[in-house]
Order: sequence, then structure tokens, then C-alpha cells
Amino acid sequence: MNARGNGSGNGPAPNGSTGAPVIRMRDVHKAFGPKKVLQGIDLDVGERESVVIIGGSGTGKSVTLKCILGLLEPDKGSIKVDGEEVVGLTGQARDRINAKFGMLFQGAALFDSLSIWENVAFGLIQGRGMGRAEAKKVAIEKMGMVGLGKHVADLFPAEMSVGMQKRAGLARAIAADPEIVFFDEPTTGLDPIMADVINELIVHVVKDVGCSALTITHDMASARKIANRVAMLYEGRIIWAGPVDQIDRSGNEYLDQFIHGRPEGPIQLQVRAL
Ligand SMILES: Nc1ncnc2c1ncn2[C@@H]1O[C@H](COP(=O)(O)OP(=O)(O)OP(=O)(O)O)[C@@H](O)[C@H]1O
Ligand SMILES: [Mg+2]
Repeated sequence: MNARGNGSGNGPAPNGSTGAPVIRMRDVHKAFGPKKVLQGIDLDVGERESVVIIGGSGTGKSVTLKCILGLLEPDKGSIKVDGEEVVGLTGQARDRINAKFGMLFQGAALFDSLSIWENVAFGLIQGRGMGRAEAKKVAIEKMGMVGLGKHVADLFPAEMSVGMQKRAGLARAIAADPEIVFFDEPTTGLDPIMADVINELIVHVVKDVGCSALTITHDMASARKIANRVAMLYEGRIIWAGPVDQIDRSGNEYLDQFIHGRPEGPIQLQVRAL
């Protein structure tokens, strides 16, 4: 368990959403040419809260994440991390913010030419300048947290199953004790049983590390398992947000259509016959 005082004068929140959010997005807009993708995103992630953004393909979930990570710059709006405005930050200032983050990429995205422990320790060695021996110790400890034994440390990704690769990706995401972990479609490409194992693991690991989590997914089973709070993205805005136990009685017809996967409803499919 880590102390989560941020030392930045923002006053660490005593618990969850009662304090200042660790991520606060207000009126965030992003367009690509004429295509308006984000059209006023408002979203908070509280300390130790697990927020899941759901929404259909192409609605801007990944763009939202990229704006927070600084990979894309919003056209308008504010994104605060621990109370600090991060839109427009570059170089070392951006690196300092991103050092608070851990990320599990879609498909785990491990480096093929590095062993599992080297993958897990990558950010510690490259980003923090930790010595290899110490980094290996930390990597093996984090691997243990996700159910990967010492004996797989020297294997290469190609020698592991997809589920084990996901575990390794998760160990890498938490290797540097992040304040906030991002999960991009954590269950895509997994069979339902393995998906459930990974969902469980995410819940436990987030709790053990004591971090906040922001996940994007269109897998409702995953959202139900991982989330404290769910936010639905549609036409560039968060059209509904609330505790996960309220999603079945939200009274929101867009959310209802999405969670039940109904073809009929207010959500217009952006699919045209060729
Ligand atoms: N760099 C870019 N340049 C131009 N258009 C982009 C760029 N990045 C994303 N888009 C467009 O923005 C829209 C939203 O994309 P995004 O990847 O955020 O969707 P998503 O909600 O993550 O979808 P999926 O569930 O399929 O991953 C899409 O229409 C996409 O084509
Ligand atoms: Mg995406």
C-alpha cells in the first residue's frame, strides 16, 4: 500500500469523490478537420475511484484517453491532474505528469525482443534510471501481484499465452506505483473466461496498489465488474454518468440501448451500406 499524499499543495482527498478529483475534465473539445469528435467532455475521476467510460466504436473513447495522456491536444477545454492544468504541457512538465500514470494498452503491447521481466521493468529502467538488478526485483514482485511466478521472468512474450501477456501488461502498468492507471479495452481479444479473470485481477490490483483507474471499453461485462462509476460517451459528450449499480435503472434510453445491445433505439448506427 502506498501513501497517496501528492505533496503538491492540492490537499489529498481523504477518500474517493469527497476530495478533489485526480482527473477533472471540463468542456473538452477535439475535432479532426470537420469531424467533431469530442464536443464538451466533463468527467471527474476521484481518488481511488474506478471510472469506466463506455460507448460505441468511433465515439471518441481513445481520443479522450489520448487527450489526458498528452498524445493529442484538445482544441478547447481544461484537463486537470491533481488540480494542475495539463493541457498544453510539453517536455519535462508533461513527463512529470505522465510519471503519475500507468497504462495497459489494448493487446498488452509488449516488446517482443524483451523478456517478461524486462518488459515489466521497462519504465523503471528507461524512465526512472533504476539499476537492472533492483528493477528486476521490483518487476518480479509486481508479477507476483498478477499471478505470474518467477519462472516466467525470462520468457519472451511469444512464449506466453494471450492471457499471460495481459497479466504481464498489467504488471508493467503498476510497476512504478502509479497514482492513476488507464486501461484501454482490457478484455478485447480474450475469451469470456479469461476476460473475467483479467477483470477480477484489475479490481484486486487497483485496490492493492491504492490507485485510481480510468478504463475505456465497450465490453459491458467488464464495465460492470471494474467500475465504481460508469460514464457513457455519445456524440462527443458524457450523456450519463453514475454509480455502476444504477446503470440498469438509469431511465436513460441511450444507456439502456447500449447496455442491452439493441439495434433499435435513439442511437443511430453510423453504418452505411456500401
Ligand atoms: N489522429 C486522428 N486523425 C483523424 N481522425 C481521428 C484521429 N484519431 C481518431 N480519429 C477519429 O475520431 C473518431 C473517434 O476515434 P476513437 O479512436 O476515439 O474511437 P473509439 O471510441 O476509441 O472507438 P473504438 O471503440 O472503435 O476503439 C473516429 O472517427 C476516428 O476516426
Ligand atoms: Mg478506441
